[in-house]
Amino acid sequence: MAIHPNSTPDPTTTPPAVYVEKLSFRYRSLDDEPQPKRQRSAPEAETIELPQTIEDISFSLPAGKLMLIAGPTGCGKSTLLKCLNGLIPHSYKGTLSGEIQLHGRSIKGQSLRDLALQVGTMLQDPDKQILGSTVEQEIAFGLENLGIPRAEMHRRTSDVLKQLKLEHYLGQLTFALSGGERQQIAAAGILVMQPSIFLFDEPFANLDSRAVDELERLIKELLAIGSSVIIVEHRVEETLRLNPDKVLLMREGRQIFFGKSNYLLNPLYACSLIVNRWKIY
Ligand SMILES: Nc1ncnc2c1ncn2[C@@H]1O[C@H](COP(=O)(O)OP(=O)(O)OP(=O)(O)O)[C@@H](O)[C@H]1O
Ligand SMILES: [Mg+2]
Repeated sequence: MAIHPNSTPDPTTTPPAVYVEKLSFRYRSLDDEPQPKRQRSAPEAETIELPQTIEDISFSLPAGKLMLIAGPTGCGKSTLLKCLNGLIPHSYKGTLSGEIQLHGRSIKGQSLRDLALQVGTMLQDPDKQILGSTVEQEIAFGLENLGIPRAEMHRRTSDVLKQLKLEHYLGQLTFALSGGERQQIAAAGILVMQPSIFLFDEPFANLDSRAVDELERLIKELLAIGSSVIIVEHRVEETLRLNPDKVLLMREGRQIFFGKSNYLLNPLYACSLIVNRWKIY
């Protein structure tokens, strides 16, 4: 396989791939847009004090492991991912507290460019992810931003296309692709950056069963080479099939469960969550 192998971590000495401690965030205003899209003159007087979007989240994920984040609409799952990949606070403003470390290094003070080399994110809406007009442009987009030499860019792009068996899409226009195809191209654009941590925000939402199988295969391959994967999902069944090492359940911005997935696979425990506290299916 052509993907970049990460060295096998020694769990006794290696810091977790992702470590989060007492993380809280509150958006500055309702529907805050990333900084470049905002009107510079947005008046301060319109700012309303919003409730915390996420509050007191703590977890850690060892390298090479898979974690599921689940919870009802609006509970803060995507916001948590934005904290992990640095979009918060770099692009979205608000009040952030707590600590995030990636492979033992705090992300405070790291640029989005540095973070992009460590964390790859598949957005919830693939249409927002696709920026290039051709498949090749789309996949090379991140590399171009990093100033990677053209020859290496071509080599990495064709390696990733081969790995994902997507060579036949070369030269095609991205707008002509189906939702599932666009998502595969978006995945290629992330893989080509060779991050060690992958964040997938509701990746199964718009996929047919064949594309779900393909994505599951890719996630297993990533884990097999030592990458760490965090999946946010409503459709919990697919992710539980992948046997996540850790599960974080959220509700109204707070974590209501963090631990091994076998609790959730225990029908009695799952029923008690459904009946008493929270609907997971
Ligand atoms: N850019 C933003 N500016 C202001 N508030 C936001 C912004 N994005 C999300 N929110 C608010 O933060 C809360 C959490 O949203 P978030 O998108 O993180 O939830 P989610 O769990 O991912 O939901 P879903 O399952 O629907 O994707 C919601 O109340 C949402 O309205
Ligand atoms: Mg979301």
